[in-house]
Parts: sequence; structure tokens; C-alpha cells
Amino acid sequence: MQILRATKTNINKAVEVIKNGGLVAFPTETVYGLGADGLNPIAVAKIFEAKNRPTFNPLILHISSPEYLDKIAQINNDKVNLLIEKFWPGPLTLVMPKKDIVPKIVTAGNDTVAVRMPNNKVALELIDRCEVPIAAPSANVFGRLSPTTASHVSEQLGEKVNIILDGGKTTIGLESTIIKVNDEGFVLLRHGGIPIEEIQKVVGKINQKVNENNNPQSPGQLPFHYSPCIPIYFIDEVNESKLKNKKLGGLFFSKDKTNFHFSTIKILSPTGNYYEAAANLFLYLHELESSNIDLILAEKIPEENLGKAIMDRLKRSVNKYK
Ligand code: TXA
Ligand code: MG
Repeated sequence: MQILRATKTNINKAVEVIKNGGLVAFPTETVYGLGADGLNPIAVAKIFEAKNRPTFNPLILHISSPEYLDKIAQINNDKVNLLIEKFWPGPLTLVMPKKDIVPKIVTAGNDTVAVRMPNNKVALELIDRCEVPIAAPSANVFGRLSPTTASHVSEQLGEKVNIILDGGKTTIGLESTIIKVNDEGFVLLRHGGIPIEEIQKVVGKINQKVNENNNPQSPGQLPFHYSPCIPIYFIDEVNESKLKNKKLGGLFFSKDKTNFHFSTIKILSPTGNYYEAAANLFLYLHELESSNIDLILAEKIPEENLGKAIMDRLKRSVNKYK
């Protein structure tokens, strides 16, 4: 595995790897993706193997121009163009009926495909030069914290990736918002980098199916996910007997309002800005999991704006240790 700065020459090397059926981790504006040629089933199979990801969990295809959508998906609702105009490139994934060209392994046998156009120059250049859509989940081991830097990827996936393109820290820091497109309307499948309120301003009310448990419409939305390697609890739910003689790490929205004695404290956004908090969430959780503490206590974030997506990730990570 090589970590390479995302220069033109190195992007060219990554293009060769993808064209030869290999794996490239690359930056997007949300999290780093683990990419393979999305039209090559054998290459896509390597993604599942590298991540240890169950094959019932479908992948997102990443494209570099909205025009490409028509080659891989059936546009079944005219309003989708409003979303594309407003939010692409950006952290919005659309789930629509697939076309035959998309291999079954990408969609886990579903007749729909998830597509997005990322808002990151390196990602767009890579996809453009590969001349195929790139299938990419987040570049983490299944169930663990999502990667927002190149070193997060190398820590978890190491030799399983041919090249990691280093494009610095991701700007949004949370995965894309996923919307399923039906003839009659839209269904939210995952909270993410664009607040649902913003999307509703464009297309009106959206059916919000997201819950904390399994969601048959979005097989990847498992109740345990995004978990650090050390236990994490919400401060207001923790049984204090669990804290005896333990070194504690604290994760707060804008400040520590508790009387606990913490060895390390992370403040997601001192000014209470949701975008800053989202961008720091996985970074700080990575830092906490690799610092010398026994467990993490997290504050609940107000569930408005990007706070919904932040809380979605935190709830799933806490679920593992309940
Ligand atoms: O921001 C992102 O979306 C990042 C970057 C790399 O683009 N990718 C990402 O991929 O988060 P992943 O695989 O970690 O999450 C994709 C989610 C999964 O929950 C999966 O179940 C859902 O998308 N998904 C994919 N295809 C689907 C489909 N056809 N129907 C319903 N859900 C689908
Ligand atoms: Mg993921």
C-alpha cells in the first residue's frame, strides 16, 4: 500500500489501479471512499472482502457529471432534477431504479442503485479519468469509525488497498444524505451531510423512514455502526458504577458542563456550529479511541440541522456498548 499525495501524476497511478481492477482509497467531501471500477464485478467484490462487509449491503456509485446518471439509473421522477441542480456535486445520494449495465454485486441484488457526485476535486478527477462510475463505501473496516483523513484509512485497511490518495482532511466529515426516489415522491434513508430541512425546501415534505434499528429499505443502516474500539456512552445514560477507576475521555458539542474528571476533552465546536461539529466528529472519535483512556462519554447534540446526522452516528456507536 502507498499513501500518495493527490497530485496529477499520482491520480494517474490511481487511474491505472482502478482500470486494472484494484482498490484506491480517495478523498471526498464527506469521508474517504474505498473505490473500485463500479462496472467490474470482480473489482467490486474486492471492496467487500477488504472491508469485511456483508454482501447484502449495497454500494454507492460515484459519478463525475450529472449527465452520467442516465447511463446507470432510470430517472423516475422529474423533481429529481431540482435536487441535482441544487445539491450536486455534494453530499446527496439518490437511490433510483438501476439500468442493466450496473452489476448486481453493486446493488446487493436490489433493482435500485445509489448514485452521487462528490464535491471534491480529487474524487471528480479520478472518476473522470477512469471513465467509469466508481463504487465506493466509506474506507473503514465494517462497523468501525469512518475515515476523514488518509491515515485513518491506512490504520484500518493498510495493505488491503493498493493506493491511498491523500487529499487532506475531509470538509463535511459525515457521509452523504441518502434519498430514495419513487414515482410519487422521496423517502429519506440516511441522515447525512445535507440537513433534511434543506432538501425539503426544494422538493417539499419528505417521508422520513430513518430509525435506529434495521431498515429494510436501506440495508446498511444497522443499529450498531461507526463504533470506536473503546466503549462509548451518552453522559446522561451512563451507569456511574461503570466509571469507577476509569480514565475518561469527554466529547462535547460546545463546552463541558459536567463535573466529571476527564483525562481528555474534545469540543466539537466551541461556537456551537453544526458544520464545524460534523467535520470534527469522526476525527475526534479517532483521536479518543487511540488516546490513553478507558471509555468515552459523549454529550447528546440538539437534533436540528446537521445535529440529526451527528446524533444518528453517535447513537449507532453507543448501541454497540449498550
Ligand atoms: O458520503 C458517502 O456516502 C460515502 C462517500 C465515500 O461517498 N459513502 C458511504 O458509503 O457512506 P457506505 O457504503 O458506507 O454507505 C452507503 C449506504 C449504505 O447504508 C447502503 O445500505 C446504502 O447506502 N445503499 C446503497 N445502495 C442502496 C440501495 N440501492 N438502496 C438502499 N440503500 C442503499
Ligand atoms: Mg460506511
